Amino acid sequence: MTKRKGIILAGGTGSRLFPVTNTTSKQLLPVFDKPMIYYPLSVLMLSGITEIAVITTPDQRTNFENLLGDGASLGLQIQYIEQPRPEGLAQAYLLAEDFLAGAPSAMILGDNIFYGHGLPEVLRHAGSYAHGASIFAYQVRDPSRYGVVCFDDFGRASAIDEKPEAPRSDFAATGLYFLDGSASDRAKQIKPSMRGELEIIDLLRTYMTDDDLYVQRLGRGYAWFDTGTHESLLDAGNFVRTIEERQGVKVGCIEEIAYHMQLIDLEQLLALASAMSKTGYGEYLRRTALQLRAGSTICDLRSIA
Ligand code: TTP
Repeated sequence: MTKRKGIILAGGTGSRLFPVTNTTSKQLLPVFDKPMIYYPLSVLMLSGITEIAVITTPDQRTNFENLLGDGASLGLQIQYIEQPRPEGLAQAYLLAEDFLAGAPSAMILGDNIFYGHGLPEVLRHAGSYAHGASIFAYQVRDPSRYGVVCFDDFGRASAIDEKPEAPRSDFAATGLYFLDGSASDRAKQIKPSMRGELEIIDLLRTYMTDDDLYVQRLGRGYAWFDTGTHESLLDAGNFVRTIEERQGVKVGCIEEIAYHMQLIDLEQLLALASAMSKTGYGEYLRRTALQLRAGSTICDLRSIA
């Protein structure tokens, strides 16, 4: 099977976060102690993906490049693609067509945060299918803000409705999509919606029509946040802070994950730590690397999702 590639969709206007996002991208804002984009990047890394395209607005591209570079220091290959206008999530598959070159992909929205015990296994399982689309549904109190997935009596997805006024279920489709190599061709077939966007829901419906859409429910042991409003951004930051301060481990720490995924070695991890030595973040990396070197840390991928 061709190696799966990753896409982080980090364009958009972030209008619900004005005036904070008047001059910067939402996905560069801090979620507690690190830029928002670290969290979706972590999810792709934990899925075993190393070749990643970050889709940005033209004016913010340089800022993302300054932050993540070509990814080499993390053992990744990162490239950047500009989205001139926010014309929908499914447009990503058109913009990234050359990058994907028919490979299967995992696309994650740049403002989505996932956390939970066993997440790496769940991700790797979703990524193991060569055909079809695998997505995740999460029970929410306010489903009408999201794409809503309905299930039949056998637990199979039977319908997806975009922001329905009267939701038929409480399960929102999260912003993480494992699609096969046909995604770009399928995206060419769909038409813009009433709001002028290529909707991801319409793309997913093409898989559903082919009986090739798999929806896994993430249970209550998982946390899923989208950070598009001031309130949800603060909630996500508080969540990360609570976990990190209570447990002394970091959530979404891309350097640590790069080590655990065997993309970098201990010396490289220490070098990344020393570049940030004056910060708590750098100190955490250094401590982690030294503990690993001494063999005193139990390497459990499940604790770093
Ligand atoms: P949204 O939250 O739907 O849009 P937005 O980020 O522009 O915010 P707002 O509604 O406040 O104006 O987007 C979800 C994610 O997808 C977010 O990370 C931005 C990204 N996105 C794009 O990169 N391109 C697009 O065309 C759209 C619609 C979203």
